Amino acid sequence: MTGSRIVALGHYQPSKVLTNDDLASLVDTSDEWITSRVGIRTRHIAAPDETVADMASRAAAKALAASGFDPQSVDLVVVATCTAMDRSPNTAAQVAARLGIPTPAAYDVNTVCSGFSYALATADHAVRAGAARRALVVGAEKMSDTIDWTDRSTCVIFADGAGAAVLEATDDFEGVGPVVWGSDPTKGDAVRIDGWDPTISQQGQAVFRWATTQLAPIAREACERAGVRPDELVAFVPHQANLRIIDAIAGKLGLSPDCVVARDVVDSGNTSAASVPLALSRLSERGELRSGGPALLFGFGGGLAYAGQVVRCP
Ligand SMILES: CC(C)(COP(=O)(O)OP(=O)(O)OC[C@H]1O[C@@H](n2cnc3c(N)ncnc32)[C@H](O)[C@@H]1OP(=O)(O)O)[C@@H](O)C(=O)NCCC(=O)NCCS
Repeated sequence: MTGSRIVALGHYQPSKVLTNDDLASLVDTSDEWITSRVGIRTRHIAAPDETVADMASRAAAKALAASGFDPQSVDLVVVATCTAMDRSPNTAAQVAARLGIPTPAAYDVNTVCSGFSYALATADHAVRAGAARRALVVGAEKMSDTIDWTDRSTCVIFADGAGAAVLEATDDFEGVGPVVWGSDPTKGDAVRIDGWDPTISQQGQAVFRWATTQLAPIAREACERAGVRPDELVAFVPHQANLRIIDAIAGKLGLSPDCVVARDVVDSGNTSAASVPLALSRLSERGELRSGGPALLFGFGGGLAYAGQVVRCP
């Protein structure tokens, strides 16, 4: 086996939907401000007793059911999250226990908003190294636990949810392409979630400038490493930070007019490590991904870290 491929996807969003008008009753903001600055119209917020592991398990269960794989055959579970409150057992072990996966290697990854692309890369590398054959890769966040609901600069942006992918070993080298990853740790203070009662804060303009000026060449490099031209992509699924960042990066890539650009942020908000698999799974559910076509996944954010890879759509 020379690589891995995505076999199936799944996602989960909490039932509670918060609109911009709902937020305008909490803080001094408006639908017009939020829509024009970040492009978000609604976001899903978890119930107080709903955990990251709950959401991760629901998304993972759907992906596993769609794959048709026996849970016993899964030998690796990786969960990307920056909001799990439990240190032990980690989220991956909790997901495995709930899904009846008996003996997997199970670990969490925290690179904040780029987490899913990092987790996908580590799972792909494990398969390529012969250390795993079937993997469950999940991004799940309860950002609402970290939100200061009096801070209008953050409470309008972040949200909750989970997305998952099932991978299997394949002799198709192109299934999950080479990752391009890295970070600018000197700018790490631009997004902080810290303290024992962790609260999110950000330097919005610094993040915006970094994302819109530094990231397009890195996204293009991920295509080059996969031997795919940007105009051959059938889908571009970047981290759903905000609509202006998504459109700025997409505009610089030279995508074909037929390429589907994920704009899930409009309905789902910014769900950090969950945003890429959530957006990908929702596109797949709507039948908007051409099976076998190349899609560029590209995570970026807190750290400031980034990771991207071209995958073949399931
Ligand atoms: C957050 C962001 C939308 C703020 O937009 P901005 O144009 O940079 O706004 P500023 O921070 O300069 O603030 C401009 C004004 O809007 C106000 N403001 C901030 N949030 C607001 C809100 N929700 N509603 C109304 N006004 C708001 C500010 O208080 C400020 O008011 P002032 O001029 O009276 O001081 C923008 O910086 C951004 O999109 N950054 C990227 C953030 C991101 O994607 N983070 C995710 C990381 S993965």
